Amino acid sequence: MHIQLDEAIQRLQRGELVAIPTETVYGLAADARNAKALQKVFATKQRPNTNPLIVHIASQTSVLDWADDFPLLAQKLADAFWPGPFTLVLKAKPAVLPIVTANQPTVALRVPSHPTALALLKQSGMGLAAPSANRYTQLSPTRSEHVVSGLGVSIPVVDGGPCQVGLESTIVEVYRDNQNQAQWQLLREGMVTRDEVQVVTQQPEVSKQQATLAPGQHHLHYSPKTALLLCASREELLAKVVDLVKESRKIAILSVGEQASVEGCEVLSLPEDPVGYAQQMYDALHRLDKVGVEFILAEAPPQTVAWSAIHDRLGRAAHTESLENA
Ligand code: TXA
Ligand code: MG
Repeated sequence: MHIQLDEAIQRLQRGELVAIPTETVYGLAADARNAKALQKVFATKQRPNTNPLIVHIASQTSVLDWADDFPLLAQKLADAFWPGPFTLVLKAKPAVLPIVTANQPTVALRVPSHPTALALLKQSGMGLAAPSANRYTQLSPTRSEHVVSGLGVSIPVVDGGPCQVGLESTIVEVYRDNQNQAQWQLLREGMVTRDEVQVVTQQPEVSKQQATLAPGQHHLHYSPKTALLLCASREELLAKVVDLVKESRKIAILSVGEQASVEGCEVLSLPEDPVGYAQQMYDALHRLDKVGVEFILAEAPPQTVAWSAIHDRLGRAAHTESLENA
């Protein structure tokens, strides 16, 4: 069910859930100060409540409503990357609900750049907890129709068109070490790269002694239902295709750049640049998941920093271990 901005605000204020567009992926939003609304988020996603939520805020000026401490290092990162596909994990204020933080001492904050998300945040004055609007471990939605196919028609969606970034935000924790010095650590890769964070901070990444890794870094995150095989090169991919076609297996190909059609295969070609690829990657996987093949053969992109987040997600999508063994 598609709804407009005004109705979305009213529903959120009543403690209901609304799927909203962001520049990364669609989020399943709820009032981050309303525990009952937040419980619905976990129930709808079938997500364990040990996995904390990102609070979306309208601007940097709201950071101290949620965080106890906003070190200069974190301010520099916020200046550089907000609004945008970047999440800061900071020490939480005691008033932040434990269902948001999963009882951790930190809170994750993001100012999104999607105009609809920003308008919603500004007009409602709320902080919105919004995980990706998909069932736990499944593919993230980058179009409103992915939300509907993943969560069903009962979730109201504000349609903001296809997401421009297409991959979940980069997550960086800023914490104080034993000498009270602010340090940073990357918790989840995204289209803001580790190198870009390094340039802004002008100091090296330092892992926490006992690193609080983003608990949602489940190795089965972001998986299509169809088995995905990652092939190191185009040659390896085409050799596998020949083998599988000989066995009369139904397969699809996801290539980096043009790939001529192959008899008996569904072929989807993604752009050769990382920004274009990331924009279309989840949509391509959603589409290939629907064509009813046994395997998706994906060609691995180049091994450069700009492709790092894409490698991370493809690696997770390709994981074949069953959930029971996870
Ligand atoms: O781009 C995004 O970040 C999207 C859009 C909707 O904003 N949201 C998103 O949310 O990807 P979600 O819930 O699917 O992933 C958020 C990740 C999870 O891995 C979670 O464990 C981690 O952020 N996280 C949240 N709060 C944290 C905290 N206090 N400390 C460490 N990790 C945290
Ligand atoms: Mg997610």
